[in-house]
Amino acid sequence: MEHTVRRIIAVAAVGLLAVGLSACGRQTDDASSGSKAANVKGTIGVAMPTKTSERWIKDGDYIKQQLEAAGYKVNLQYANDDIPTQVTQVNDMVTKQNQVLVVASIDGTALKGALKEAKDAGIPVIAYDRLLRDTDAVDYYTTFDNLKVGKLQAESLLAGLEASGAPKPWNVELFAGSPDDNNATFFFNGAMQVLQPKIDAGDIKIASGETNFKTVATLRWDAAVAKKRMENVLTKSYSKADVNGVLSPYDGLSRGIIAALKGSGYGSGGKKLPVVTGQDAELESVKSILAGEQYSTVFKNTRDLAQATVTMITEIAGKKTVTVNDTESYDNGVKKVPTQLLDPVAADKSNVKDILLKAKYYTEADLK
Ligand code: GAL
Repeated sequence: MEHTVRRIIAVAAVGLLAVGLSACGRQTDDASSGSKAANVKGTIGVAMPTKTSERWIKDGDYIKQQLEAAGYKVNLQYANDDIPTQVTQVNDMVTKQNQVLVVASIDGTALKGALKEAKDAGIPVIAYDRLLRDTDAVDYYTTFDNLKVGKLQAESLLAGLEASGAPKPWNVELFAGSPDDNNATFFFNGAMQVLQPKIDAGDIKIASGETNFKTVATLRWDAAVAKKRMENVLTKSYSKADVNGVLSPYDGLSRGIIAALKGSGYGSGGKKLPVVTGQDAELESVKSILAGEQYSTVFKNTRDLAQATVTMITEIAGKKTVTVNDTESYDNGVKKVPTQLLDPVAADKSNVKDILLKAKYYTEADLK
């Protein structure tokens, strides 16, 4: 433990040196202050994956607002889920000598080259929500407890199945996220820790037989891909029986899955929609939950994640010890990345409105 703490301080020290160095070289940002103080507030590069999902728009907005309020400039970029675009954006942040990089990757391993440039230029890198893999050029990680997210999804699936009154064995189908996103494995493994014993006990039946992560994964978290797979599974395995539950790791996929189910007659004429889980509390899905369609979601307050990240940046710039609460869970293939983990919260029709209004994540009017 002592070793770990020392290591964190050492990493922080390297980062600070880097900030100091890059601050010296940054003429436009520093010109106004006329000082080379370590606590200089320059431009922070923020690389986000896509605007097609509402959550990343919120993440970007919150980080920008909070950094600007703390006196930084922000270079916020979205990459339309296109890997080469994100590589170019991160390279550009390095060329411009942005002070710290915050990166939510599309493919966790695709930025290795660009991140090496950042490291060589002495720019600290924070992986934001998604771990940057196979590189030593990542200093810190801010995210939610991803294994717990998966567990919450599975527990909520079981609670919904129990409440549905459907007789056992329950027919369940499994979906996972994008295989190039480290989180997808964590969500799936967390969920399977809860579901596997039920499968082994014969309480849950996967009629498609598709239980392997690679088979159930959904490239780029694409709703259309999940919809197509759900349609195929329904055709192949549910001509006689009904599906009772679907493990979905993300609201966008849940909506694609529900569209496929509705297209096949579920949700009308006495044929109940199955219990479908989700994640992110996206507005459309929250409305679907309130309307009794999607069963649940997992709320991750992205304002808090932005806050944790901005705290890290100010600690790095202010030569303070960087706040982390997990130094073991996130091995990126090269190193264990010191992480600040936040707590995800399960929500269903019974409490979703309450939770989101209390967190001021949405207003009453949003949820109408
Ligand atoms: C994951 C993230 C989830 C969800 C998903 C799709 O990396 O942790 O919350 O947003 O991407 O965007």
